[in-house]
Amino acid sequence: MRLPITRYYGSKRKLINKIWEALNDLQIEFDSVLDLFGGTGVVSYFMAQKGKHVVYNDIFSFNCEIAKALLCSSRGVFSESDALCLLNKVAGREYDNIIAENYIDIYYTDEENRIIDTVIQNIPYLEPEKQASAYYVLFQSCIIKRPFNLFHRKNLNLRTNFVKANFGNKKTWEQSFEDLFIKFTRELNELQFTVLPQVEITNFSALNCNRHADVVYIDTPYFPKENGGSITYHSRYHFLEGLMNYAAIPSHIDYSKVNLEINISRNLEFERRSCFIHELDQLINMHRDSIIALSYTTEGYPSIDELEAIIRRYKARTHVCYLGQHSFALNRNNAGRQEVLIVGI
Ligand SMILES: C[S@@+](CC[C@H](N)C(=O)[O-])C[C@H]1O[C@@H](n2cnc3c(N)ncnc32)[C@H](O)[C@@H]1O
Repeated sequence: MRLPITRYYGSKRKLINKIWEALNDLQIEFDSVLDLFGGTGVVSYFMAQKGKHVVYNDIFSFNCEIAKALLCSSRGVFSESDALCLLNKVAGREYDNIIAENYIDIYYTDEENRIIDTVIQNIPYLEPEKQASAYYVLFQSCIIKRPFNLFHRKNLNLRTNFVKANFGNKKTWEQSFEDLFIKFTRELNELQFTVLPQVEITNFSALNCNRHADVVYIDTPYFPKENGGSITYHSRYHFLEGLMNYAAIPSHIDYSKVNLEINISRNLEFERRSCFIHELDQLINMHRDSIIALSYTTEGYPSIDELEAIIRRYKARTHVCYLGQHSFALNRNNAGRQEVLIVGI
C-alpha cells in the first residue's frame, strides 16, 4: 500500500505494517479505530485503506488539516494550478505581513516569509473542499525546508551558511515553494481516495475526546528513559499551529524564547513526565470497553512492564508485541531500541 511520506517526529509510517500484523496475529476483529494521537494521519490512512471506520484525533489543528486532506478530500479536486495560484497576491485583496515582519532570520528567508504570508491568507478564499489540501501542501513544504524538519530552534543559519551546494539536505531546503507545491499536490492526488472512506476528524486533547471505537490506538509523546529536558510537540511544531491562527500570531509570540515560539494550543497533557502515568491510567479507564493498542519503545519512560501493568488494571488480557528495531528518521542514535505494541483485550 502506498503511504504518505512523513517527516514528522514519531511518525509510525515504517511501523504500521507490523502493527497491523500484530493485531492480525492476535486475531483481533474490529470494524472501527480511534486514532487518538493521530499526528501525520498515516495510521488512520492505513486503517481507512483496510476498510475500517476511522476517527482521527490530534490536539493540533494543523495536523487535523493534514488528515482531512488525506482522508476527507477527494482525488482530483485540488489541482496543481490551484496550488500555484496560492503563491500570488490577488489584486484588491489586503494582505498582512505577520511572518515577514516578526520572523526575520528565524526559520525562513525573507522571500519565503513573504510567500508564507501570501499563501496562508489566500487559502480561506478557496472553495471549502480544496482548503485542507492547500494547507497540506503548504505545511509539507514548510516542514521539508526546515533543518531537521522542526521549529524548536532558530537555525535558519544552518541552512544559509551551508555552502556545499549539492549536499543532500541543502538541495531539499532550497527547493522553491513553486516546485514543492507541484510535488506535494501530485503526491497528495495519488494518495487521496476516489470514494471517500468513513472518517471523522476531531481536534481535542486526548482526555477530552469522547469518541468510541472497537480499537483505540494510543501513540502518545514519548519520554526517554533518562530524565532530561524533553521537547514538547508544541515546541517542535508551534509555527504550523500558529499559521492556522494567523491573525492571532502577534499577540501570542513568546519573546522570551529565541525561536519566538507561538503560544497557541499549548497544552501539557501527556507532555509532562511526572503526570504521564496518571494521565495514561485515566485514558485507558475511559476506553476500558475497547481493545487498547498502545505504541511505545523499550528505551522509554515508563518501562514496558509499567505500561502493561496500567493496561492490566482495566483489561483481562494483555500482550506485548515486539516490533523490532526501527531507527526513526529523526532519531538515528538509538541502538538497542525496540518498538513495542502493547495490546489490551
Ligand atoms: C507520537 S506522535 C503520533 C504519531 C502518529 N501516530 C503518526 O504515525 O504520525 C504524538 C501526537 O500526539 C499529539 N498530541 C500531543 N499531546 C496530545 C494530547 N494531549 N492529545 C491529543 N494529541 C496530542 C501530537 O500533536 C502528535 O501529533
